[in-house]
Amino acid sequence: MGSCYDDLCALVAELLKIGKDAHLSPDVLKAWSDEATKVGERLKERHSLPEESKRNLQLNLINRLGQQDVWKMDLQDFFDMAVVSIRESLGYYNVSIFRIDETSQDLVLTAHAGAYRGRVSKGYHQGIDRGMLGWVARNGRMLLTNDVSREPAYLAVEGLATKSEICIPILIEGKIEGVLNVESDVVGAFDQGDVVALETLAQQVADVVQMRRTNQAFDLLKAEIRHSFGQFIGRSEVMRKVFDLIRTVARSDMIVLIRGETGTGKELVARAIHAESRRKDRPFIAVNCAALPESLFESELFGHERGAFTGADRRRVGKMEMARGGTLFLDEIGEIPYPLQAKLLRAIEGQAFTRVGGEQEIQVDVRILSATNQPLEELEQQGRFRRDLYFRLNAVQIHLPPLRERIEDLPLLAAHFLREACARLDKRIDAIAPAVLAALTAYAWPGNIRELENAIARAALMEQTSCLSQIDLPQVKNPAAELRGIKTQNP
Ligand SMILES: Nc1ncnc2c1ncn2[C@@H]1O[C@H](COP(=O)(O)OP(=O)(O)OP(=O)(O)O)[C@@H](O)[C@H]1O
Ligand SMILES: [Mg+2]
Repeated sequence: MGSCYDDLCALVAELLKIGKDAHLSPDVLKAWSDEATKVGERLKERHSLPEESKRNLQLNLINRLGQQDVWKMDLQDFFDMAVVSIRESLGYYNVSIFRIDETSQDLVLTAHAGAYRGRVSKGYHQGIDRGMLGWVARNGRMLLTNDVSREPAYLAVEGLATKSEICIPILIEGKIEGVLNVESDVVGAFDQGDVVALETLAQQVADVVQMRRTNQAFDLLKAEIRHSFGQFIGRSEVMRKVFDLIRTVARSDMIVLIRGETGTGKELVARAIHAESRRKDRPFIAVNCAALPESLFESELFGHERGAFTGADRRRVGKMEMARGGTLFLDEIGEIPYPLQAKLLRAIEGQAFTRVGGEQEIQVDVRILSATNQPLEELEQQGRFRRDLYFRLNAVQIHLPPLRERIEDLPLLAAHFLREACARLDKRIDAIAPAVLAALTAYAWPGNIRELENAIARAALMEQTSCLSQIDLPQVKNPAAELRGIKTQNP
């Protein structure tokens, strides 16, 4: 069996592992693995021909070149080796591979072995409307002549003594990629055996091209994964350190305080720590300490017994209890009412608490994460935040720098949010105009990643072309004039 199939399987396995580790979205992973499996299965089928028929064909290009790791090879090197190998093994007069040029749609001589000299050399173009090659490229079917003087489509090439010729289409998923062209200097040179052998070879050439493409796409994906962590995007040094820190703290039950300006991704960090931890299959419960009036806060966090206060007609389980075995994320911790801070500290230290109006102590195993964009040290000095609680929560700190201090992440982030917005809007915008990128980079982003996400979503909604060419940002000088200038440059 071709080693390329095994390699491909190994690659898919590796990819799935990286993707899973990175918490890549299941949809993305599935699309990639489906594609790879499809190619892999097809190869397996084709290259597990019975030994007998392989011998009859006398060659199997991929196996012959197999030692060379065909599917990782430079494509041009592969074509060069393929034509030589076909010519040597089957003793033809002239063997060439033409490929369709994407822009001109002409056939271009990509590799040849044998008799071409003079005017015809690598890079030679032939219109798709001419000759046997053109016919095959247009029709996607094989064409054979055992006497070129009787073939109306035959185009004579100066200096060649061609008498018989076969042109075989190179097809990938039914689409014409090129033509394998084989010539002989004797009349009546080709029989059915040649046709079968050459069709197999043309298919193998197509396989390698396709594998090469899949492989390149994998390389791109792998690069993208390297620059991300879960749903996080970021290739900057600071963000890589943050990712490392998340991985490290996730393995322990350490209490972590996540700090950073608004919209820098604090909640995303908390969720990532949970997702990477042994608690990942248990609940992640977030409490927004800013959203609750003091009177409700205690009951929200610790629950209450029936009749604990007016209106408490049922027992209620608090967030801390809900998080049993999992993670409790205390967001905006700077806003927690002072009187409750002592009870929270006791609960954290003893992993136990009582419900409001209750007697019984409830034991819970909960990991505490908290986040704030406030200067807790100042609150502590002002007597609004307990010093002992501050030290307790601040065992490990993860600081998320503002976007303006990791501006090198902006292009990746912008592309990511554009992709998401397009998916939501069912639109196709696959580029960002350089001047828009420049404007994005110049802006200070007080609302950080969230503000960027919203700005891109808005711009995507308004955009009428397939290139994001307008963006509406505060604090950017005269954006209208600037952007109009761009539009004329990049229609
Ligand atoms: N590095 C990143 N890559 C991709 N998306 C990100 C990144 N950082 C933040 N986001 C996205 O930006 C938005 C804001 O992030 P998040 O809610 O975690 O910020 P926050 O720091 O908790 O903000 P706030 O202080 O206002 O509560 C979310 O939609 C989040 O998914
Ligand atoms: Mg938040």
